[in-house]
Amino acid sequence: MHRRSTGTAGERVVVRDVLGRRDRRAELAQDVHGGLSGRVRQIPPKYFYDARGSELFERITGLPEYYLTRAETEILQDHALDLVAEIGAHVLVEYGSGSSVKTRLLLDAMEARGSLEQYVPVDVSEEAVHAAADILAAEYPGLQVVIVVADFDMPLDLSFAGRPRLIAFLGSTIGNFEPQAARRFVECVAEELEPGDGFLVGFDLVKDRRELEAAYNDAAGVTAEFNLNLLAVLNRELGADFDLGAFRHRATYDEEGARIEMRLVSERDQEVRIGALGLAVHFEAGEALLTEFSHKYTHGSALALLQAGGLHLRRWETDREGRFALALAGLG
Ligand code: SAH
Ligand code: TRP
Repeated sequence: MHRRSTGTAGERVVVRDVLGRRDRRAELAQDVHGGLSGRVRQIPPKYFYDARGSELFERITGLPEYYLTRAETEILQDHALDLVAEIGAHVLVEYGSGSSVKTRLLLDAMEARGSLEQYVPVDVSEEAVHAAADILAAEYPGLQVVIVVADFDMPLDLSFAGRPRLIAFLGSTIGNFEPQAARRFVECVAEELEPGDGFLVGFDLVKDRRELEAAYNDAAGVTAEFNLNLLAVLNRELGADFDLGAFRHRATYDEEGARIEMRLVSERDQEVRIGALGLAVHFEAGEALLTEFSHKYTHGSALALLQAGGLHLRRWETDREGRFALALAGLG
């Protein structure tokens, strides 16, 4: 089906809010309760991305140490046209789209081929995704934008979206899943694909520890600010009283797990109250709260993940320095 949407930019943006606001708060409460009651304290990373978190992440993408965004942009500049042509995509679905900056390289390639019809950004960060959608609808005449405010940890129904479709998952966000969850995620993507559709996924590659640790410990302290913003989210949303000055950002590379591990470490013995949960949590000096993993892949481990999820690797492109890879996969 080759529908062309018409109308003004505003009329071409449609919103499907899969998460209700109340549900979101309830889920946050449940995740924080679970994450702080156990022995290993851990909060899921999706809660980083309130309006301020999304803004801070944008600043991270421009940091001199954070090579990931530049490397992935280089790959898209060199290969977006062939990747889009390989699928003949008319529809671009993007998980974790954020500000949709790199997305433009894919949209431009689809536009150049005359096949661009629909863009479906899927993100929990409502503010970021709305702002990005408005800009794109204004810049790409005729493009229909369907915003999906949803959590990609859960299976999504994308049956409304057209085909042939390319599902993109950029920025090494797949690395933020633990291995089992990553496989489940790929399985869910495979469910949304039909023969001929494609899945384009960005993997940050295993490399020297110093380069990896520098990327998550920038000199300007933006990553630290981003990490600490999670506590500000908990203070605001759950009436917690985290003292942001009493926790320190730490990111270290674990070679065995091939992952950066990001933590907030308590500077002193302290008690934190989480009003909405009626919970008091004790942190000893040096005790850590785990906030994120960022798994690094090799060609072999990425291939194994895609195959385990039921997909077949069609293309593998890296930047010239071999720091980052884009994989294009499909069914069968
Ligand atoms: N694609 C962009 C942004 C990556 S940051 C880039 O490559 O630069 C990760 C993005 O995923 C953020 O926009 C965040 O809001 C979103 N995100 C994180 N966890 C999510 C989840 N569970 N469900 C939906 N979106 C999520
Ligand atoms: N997907 C990004 C990554 O793993 C997310 C990210 C970058 C991030 N820097 C961060 C998450 C700092 C938390 C803190 O690289």
